[in-house]
Amino acid sequence: MRTQVAIIGAGPAGLLLGQLLALGGIDTVILERHSRSHVLGRIRAGVLEQGTVDVLQEAGVGERLKAKGLPHEGFELAFDGQRHRIDLAGLTGRQVTVYGQTEVTRDLMDARAAAGLTSIYQASEVSLHDFDGTAPRVRWRMKGRVHELRCDYIAGCDGFHGVSRASVPASALRLFERVYPFGWLGVLCDTPPVAEELIYANHPRGFALCSMRSRTRSRYYLQCDLTERVEDWSDERFFEELRRRLDAPAAERLITGPSIEKSIAPLRSFVAEPMRFGRLCLAGDAAHIVPPTGAKGLNLAVADVRTLARALLARYRAGSETELDDYSAKCLRRVWKTVRFSWWMTTLMHRFPESSEFGQRIQEAELGYLVGSRAASTALAENYVGLPFED
Ligand code: APR
Ligand code: PHB
Repeated sequence: MRTQVAIIGAGPAGLLLGQLLALGGIDTVILERHSRSHVLGRIRAGVLEQGTVDVLQEAGVGERLKAKGLPHEGFELAFDGQRHRIDLAGLTGRQVTVYGQTEVTRDLMDARAAAGLTSIYQASEVSLHDFDGTAPRVRWRMKGRVHELRCDYIAGCDGFHGVSRASVPASALRLFERVYPFGWLGVLCDTPPVAEELIYANHPRGFALCSMRSRTRSRYYLQCDLTERVEDWSDERFFEELRRRLDAPAAERLITGPSIEKSIAPLRSFVAEPMRFGRLCLAGDAAHIVPPTGAKGLNLAVADVRTLARALLARYRAGSETELDDYSAKCLRRVWKTVRFSWWMTTLMHRFPESSEFGQRIQEAELGYLVGSRAASTALAENYVGLPFED
């Protein structure tokens, strides 16, 4: 079997890359270790930067997004029993769109299937070979047989636990990581959201976030200890704790209902440098992880893929590897700015077990300064709506 670009992973990064390359006439094969339904069953974040929306429309998968996506021109920060609105549109002239990552993935899967492009699901034991040469190959096992795909390039879009980054010699990688001393307990339920816009709450009992997927489906999160287990959190206990972390009006408005998904996710910041090794390029979670506080994971993956697709198109159209040579450095400039913002928002909004009283006062002072300064709120807003793409 042969293709031009082998893509490892059918998450948003891999699927979007396949879609952008197909529009440019470049042949791809996607190899995914799980089934299509398993990939679609993952519950992930749901806030899209305008730049992400633009890329999805450029990729020809913006129709449902345009019809079902919820434009949001602001969000609220809650602390000391008060809510303070961050006016994204007023401060930056831009907005974000609430649209679940699962829907983005579904739209991309449907587009790929409609185009008759090759996606191989439930590919096990995927391995990468000779990407330090000019004839890379990918192997996998399926139905008891070993298969091989020859290609020009490999795109490692297989997430944090994938095989791509793990295939790079450790000596060629520099890893940067910060693991946070808490997790997020998340609940999805078919109830109307507690407010029109998202509420990020800093409370002495811990962080809470009120988000949504639509006007009838809510997504809530509570900061929790890493020792917590999902089975110890009934819906009743979850919503009782959420009410305690919200301001009084929000707590009164909260409409509860049976959870349709409940999970605990750890929080980490992680970057692998560089993002290219010969004919292998990493994109999305394969190269970096951000804590979900700033809603940047998907948006950063889209930015990587936009850069990689343009670099590969330049290589095939003009025979120039200049953009490929610049791929890693260009992505990492945005990655580190986004990692910084996600770290900053996480540090600002969460209660750290080891924080001193001095540290707690500093956090309170920063929140008070933030909501009282147009300059500080603008800095928050322009990172939240998404920094401009470099080109
Ligand atoms: N072989 C084939 N596929 C693999 C392998 C492997 N060895 N390892 C992982 N995969 C697949 C996973 O099953 C998953 O479907 O790669 C895909 C990676 O998708 P994501 O983890 O969603 O990563 P990415 O596409 O970069 O999207 C980033 O997804 O996880 C969220 O918070 C993250 O919002 C961010 C977004
Ligand atoms: C979500 O809706 O899942 C979500 C929204 C905003 C965030 C994180 C998660 O910052």
